[in-house]
Amino acid sequence: MDHRHLDKKIIADQMQIVNDVAGAWKVQVLYALIELDIFDMLNDQKLTAEEIGSRAHIPLASLERLLNGAVSTGYLRKDQNGYENTPMANQVLVRGKPGYLGNYLKLTARWNRSFGKLGRAVRSNEPVEDANAMADEEYRTLFIKGMIDYAAYRGTDVLNHIDLEDKETLIDIGCGPAVYTEMFARAYPQLRCTAYDLPDALAIARDRIQTQEKGGQDRLEWKPGNYLTDESYGTGFDVVFLSHVLHQESPEDCRRILKKSFHALNPGGVLIIQAMFLSEDGLGSVYTALHDLLALLIFPGGYNYSKQTMIPWLEALDYVNIRSTSMSMHNINSLILADKER
Ligand SMILES: C[S@@+](CC[C@H](N)C(=O)[O-])C[C@H]1O[C@@H](n2cnc3c(N)ncnc32)[C@H](O)[C@@H]1O
Repeated sequence: MDHRHLDKKIIADQMQIVNDVAGAWKVQVLYALIELDIFDMLNDQKLTAEEIGSRAHIPLASLERLLNGAVSTGYLRKDQNGYENTPMANQVLVRGKPGYLGNYLKLTARWNRSFGKLGRAVRSNEPVEDANAMADEEYRTLFIKGMIDYAAYRGTDVLNHIDLEDKETLIDIGCGPAVYTEMFARAYPQLRCTAYDLPDALAIARDRIQTQEKGGQDRLEWKPGNYLTDESYGTGFDVVFLSHVLHQESPEDCRRILKKSFHALNPGGVLIIQAMFLSEDGLGSVYTALHDLLALLIFPGGYNYSKQTMIPWLEALDYVNIRSTSMSMHNINSLILADKER
């Protein structure tokens, strides 16, 4: 038999691309398992395909193919007694577990539809999502719940990088689900925290916090507003916290937000910006670089700015003692801190 010689390097290069394609399909398996509540069903228990099918009212033939796909991709395990979650899936894909990412996954499933239009967005330098997408209640709820999952566990890392012992008042601008606002109120018993976001987003945050009993709620205030159109965010704050907000806005709007934040601060107060910063040459970790493309796809004017872009904006606005810190390895965010002179 005549065996053709295949160049191993070409095969390796092809496999890299084939694996990238498989990666995009793999996440679809994850989305389907979340959509069908299969991880919840397998929470700390093993079930047969028949048992899962009858609970979820899914035809056995297609279900078995999905379950086997999930075993092959590492989300489930299988033996002669049935299917079970892998330990990773049991920890972060089962509703209610610390570290749960199910709502974040549902949000990214929606964003992946936008990613399918990346070529169009690049050609036009315009987002492909309707600028008013947040006016849609279903999307807004998905967005805010996704933010909760994203921030709730790894977000607590922020506390390891700042000290607010001598601060009394904080405003969290574009607070989303107010995960951070609540975290600051709990961590610092002297701190009064104001959660500021669009009214509909704030309503979701409020509902979430009312159902929790973790302390600090009596020092939380709710301030509905629009950071673009409001002339002022108020005054008298020792801390302004801006987390994952500026990548949604154009440079002009960012500078306006930073100016109003300066006005909101007391002398001696501190501005804290949390973001996924690109490096000066536009590169970043895989997630940061792809998130910048997401900003292009869904936010008019949105951009994952670098620290080198943002720091001159702060200097021009008379912020002083501007410093930045990267967070732990598991947290791809960084912080910029800047003071208002006493
Ligand atoms: C990516 S989320 C970040 C939420 C939160 N700060 C965090 O880090 O988890 C951005 C937030 O900005 C809010 N936002 C968008 N446009 C806004 C505006 N014009 N005024 C106030 N908030 C706005 C959204 O409602 C959303 O909650």
